[in-house]
Amino acid sequence: MEAEIVQRFLESVGAKADIDLYLRLFRAQRKESFAILAPNAQIVKSALDPVHFDLRILAGLGLLPVVLLGLLEPKDADAQAARVAAWLVEDEVPCDVIRADVAVGPETIRAIGAAVARGAIPLVSLEACAAQTIDARFRLLATLATALETRKVVFLSRRAGLVLAAGPPPSVVSLATDTERLLAPGVLSRGQALLLRQVKQLLERVPHRLSATVVNPLALLRELFTVNGAGTLIRKGSRIETHSGWEGVDQARLRALFASAFGRTVGDGLFARKVSRTFVEESYRGAAVIEETPVAPYLTKFAVERQAQGEGLGGEIWSLVTRDYPAFFWRSRPENAITAWYAKQCDGLARFPAWHVFWRGLPIETIDPAVRAALSAPSDFD
Ligand SMILES: CC(C)(COP(=O)(O)OP(=O)(O)OC[C@H]1O[C@@H](n2cnc3c(N)ncnc32)[C@H](O)[C@@H]1OP(=O)(O)O)[C@@H](O)C(=O)NCCC(=O)NCCS
Repeated sequence: MEAEIVQRFLESVGAKADIDLYLRLFRAQRKESFAILAPNAQIVKSALDPVHFDLRILAGLGLLPVVLLGLLEPKDADAQAARVAAWLVEDEVPCDVIRADVAVGPETIRAIGAAVARGAIPLVSLEACAAQTIDARFRLLATLATALETRKVVFLSRRAGLVLAAGPPPSVVSLATDTERLLAPGVLSRGQALLLRQVKQLLERVPHRLSATVVNPLALLRELFTVNGAGTLIRKGSRIETHSGWEGVDQARLRALFASAFGRTVGDGLFARKVSRTFVEESYRGAAVIEETPVAPYLTKFAVERQAQGEGLGGEIWSLVTRDYPAFFWRSRPENAITAWYAKQCDGLARFPAWHVFWRGLPIETIDPAVRAALSAPSDFD
């Protein structure tokens, strides 16, 4: 497909800035690390059209996912691979069918590397592993993801994501905090509960950072190329450390995080001020800073590095801030994409042309001074 048509199509999926960001990120990785797509047999049988479309678009962008067939139902995986190949060949999308050996050993990995190097989508069949248990096949998936340093494993499903008994599918699941609740009887279907259990082990086995997504093929491109995503993103969960003031905080790393999140550099003024608590994700991918003011605690910075945004880290930090601070206030620019989310988190807000001011838990007599304090707080950016 012509590059320009592909680009135009993508821009109909999400904001141009997001798409450019994700394209840059994906293209900066090793080619074979981009993603593993695991469609279930039902999808190959009855919903191949959108999968095929997704693969054409991705190949048109030079992104070549490894398509893994037979992870859940390996019985006729060779036939599934042949079926996907037939469709791709018809549209002149290069692909190689690769029959994995029983251990997904070095030879299989080499064949995948060779396919990607020549610009072809590897269609990997697990039919040789049909006698193994599901558990064993997920271990093979971990072997494969480790060897390729895969960043994302995508489970293509007929459902929109992990479907709960009530409510829409969650957009993010953090295994550290959500597993127990989701695996309680009757919350997920048996099939999806099994998938969640396997994904948990997968993410624990793989030594590098890997996320998994359950998504319908119709929403795959939205999942890959927008901050909000689509489907359910499953991640391990983060370790967030709490510091008293700036104590033990690496200011250079925090500055780098703010620069990535805000696209602007913070000056020395921020670090010269007395703050009461800093929440920092262990790898400095996200942070929140609370400043003590005469009025009430003030959330002066809340940021997640650009490439990790939309993956739930902000929400995790937020829940720690609200756990430790029953009352605080903060502000944001009206045009900031996060402002609508803040409106859902606050007890009240006041809108001004330059800033929206939000609060939680403030007694009535503190609201007016808090709004005034937020409006007159200095800018921390150079
Ligand atoms: C604001 C910020 C810290 C949120 O962190 P995050 O890790 O992206 O947030 P999460 O993935 O946990 O998402 C939290 C919620 O915000 C929403 N959200 C996140 N980014 C969004 C965006 N660009 N547009 C719309 N909504 C967005 C998510 O959909 C989610 O809502 P939900 O719980 O209803 O599904 C992060 O986007 C950021 O650093 N932005 C730039 C810096 C900034 O503006 N900070 C705030 C200054 S006031």
